[in-house]
Amino acid sequence: MSSSILPLTSACTQTPSPTSTNITFLNSSTFISNSKPFSQQSSKNNHKNHHVNNFKLSCNITPPNNDTNNNQKPLIIPEPQTLILPNLDRRNLLIGAGLYTTVNFTNSIPSALAEPITSPNISSSCKTAAMGIGNMKDAVRTRACCPPGKDKPIKTFVFPKEKTVKMRWPAHRGTPENIEKYKKAIQAMRDLPDDHPHSFIQQAKIHCAYCNGGYTQVENGFPDIDIQIHNSWLFFPFHRWYLYFYERILGKLINDPTFALPYWNWDNPTGMTIPSIFEEGGKGTKDNPNSLFDAYRDGNHLPPTIVDLNFSGESDASCLEQIGINLSTMYRQMVSSATSDTLFFGGKYVAGDPPVANGAKSIGSIEAGCHTAVHRWVGDSRMPNNEDMGNFYSAGYDPLFYVHHTNVDRMWKIWKDLGIPGHSEPTSSDWLNASYVFYDENEELVRVYNKDSVKIEDLKYGYERSEIPWLKGRPVPRSKNSKIALKSIGKVKKVQDVKFPVKLDKVVEVLVKRPAVNRSSGDKEKATEVLLINGILFDGEAFVKFDVFVNDKEDGRPSLPSDSEFAGSFSQVPHSDMNKMLMSSAAKFGISELLEDTEAEGDEFVLVKLVPRAGCDDLSISEIKIELVPIV
Ligand code: C2O
Repeated sequence: MSSSILPLTSACTQTPSPTSTNITFLNSSTFISNSKPFSQQSSKNNHKNHHVNNFKLSCNITPPNNDTNNNQKPLIIPEPQTLILPNLDRRNLLIGAGLYTTVNFTNSIPSALAEPITSPNISSSCKTAAMGIGNMKDAVRTRACCPPGKDKPIKTFVFPKEKTVKMRWPAHRGTPENIEKYKKAIQAMRDLPDDHPHSFIQQAKIHCAYCNGGYTQVENGFPDIDIQIHNSWLFFPFHRWYLYFYERILGKLINDPTFALPYWNWDNPTGMTIPSIFEEGGKGTKDNPNSLFDAYRDGNHLPPTIVDLNFSGESDASCLEQIGINLSTMYRQMVSSATSDTLFFGGKYVAGDPPVANGAKSIGSIEAGCHTAVHRWVGDSRMPNNEDMGNFYSAGYDPLFYVHHTNVDRMWKIWKDLGIPGHSEPTSSDWLNASYVFYDENEELVRVYNKDSVKIEDLKYGYERSEIPWLKGRPVPRSKNSKIALKSIGKVKKVQDVKFPVKLDKVVEVLVKRPAVNRSSGDKEKATEVLLINGILFDGEAFVKFDVFVNDKEDGRPSLPSDSEFAGSFSQVPHSDMNKMLMSSAAKFGISELLEDTEAEGDEFVLVKLVPRAGCDDLSISEIKIELVPIV
């Protein structure tokens, strides 16, 4: 670690913050400022400029909104290599032979018969949430998540007609007026009777009902199969609609048609702590309560602690190292590993697909990555089910949940606006016509479709601009051209010699053959190289996470998210379907840039290493392969 950063590193970790950690960019010209679409910047140039250690930032503690602190010292982000992790036991690196009982996949229907997932009328067809809550006995929130009302008619959605656009604002730098309105609106929601469809509790229950088994695919003719809006291409549009109505309800409660939600800007170093408005003054007083406070948050993660967008349990990273890890994590999940609709949105999920046992289904890069990490990082680890944010059934009880998800929603918008080939929504009618039912701001039931969620301009909201520093967060390779895969032949099994399913109760290494080598830049524009981990079977009631490395250096410590060799992670917030304990999912990682960075484009094999991080003792994998996925 270069000595110039040491004083600031200690400022970053030692100074208790009266407000929040405010990190100011000193040289904003080093950030891309939307002057040129990202797609037009040459990959080679990006490569040189994208190293995290080009960032000049200061980790000083300053009052919020003070951008002109003269005492800041320029700071270079440390080389990622300086962080030392515990040694891995190399004896564990052999491929596991443990077999796993396979689940009987009898519920699948042929895809030719597929129809889009269609939510039932939520006021007539709903049941108590029963699964995904590991410790039901001590659960602090209710599992009775059905909305009020009985057999209400469902209206057709009409786009909002107002002229004003609701501009969502970064929660760490709201104007006093915006903060005031926001607190007031949430308080008004809390003050409604519990059985009002707009009440704080009913809004929280929406998430529980759609995620923990409240609804079935009865509309599609599958009354025994639950609907699950996570782990697939429904993730982004469902949450966009949820927030759309939530925001309009809040606006109506304070009679302000311009009301806009804040977003938790965790992808920018200035916003990487829990926004102070959620914690300041604790729960407040009887006469002046802080409506944004929630008692069930992890006490170790309050400001000024920097959020860990790759969270899998406590890490030793310093504030600055954590920022570097976060920016590389964002770059990977938004750019290098998100080169197609399925990589970003998640896999296909249609009527007849149970939440369990759909081998083709995969979870999108943001959902699996920073989204889950933030849920888990905020949830209170002392609570029986990591309430509130750490479990889907309870997440909606924390106002931070909605502000977390506005930023997730903003990621969809930014991903699209990057203009990179492949960055567009799914075009299948099974995606376009999937639908959900919500209570709108007039207490009427409305059916909304994915296809109507695509343009936020039509929904009359937008996002106030914030710098996007992770665009320069392309990870740095630890080892170039060291022919690691070649050297492993004979020592590590090739994928065809491995007996699947394979258990991930220890580190698993395997050599995977590539479909093509030395692809030209023309080839790369047509198709992206994707590492697929299929048939991931795990306990839906546990938090699970494993990391994936490609051609990792043989020096006894795994790469970090800020290293190119780190391909990504698979992680899940606890939940599961009604019928089985085991969930099945898949993960995909775009590795074209990784292979460029590590100069392994001519290698016939890549060395894939899976490292269990949490809840993986019973996790198994049924297939590992590399495919070329066309960019459309
Ligand atoms: Cu529906 Cu962040 O989860």
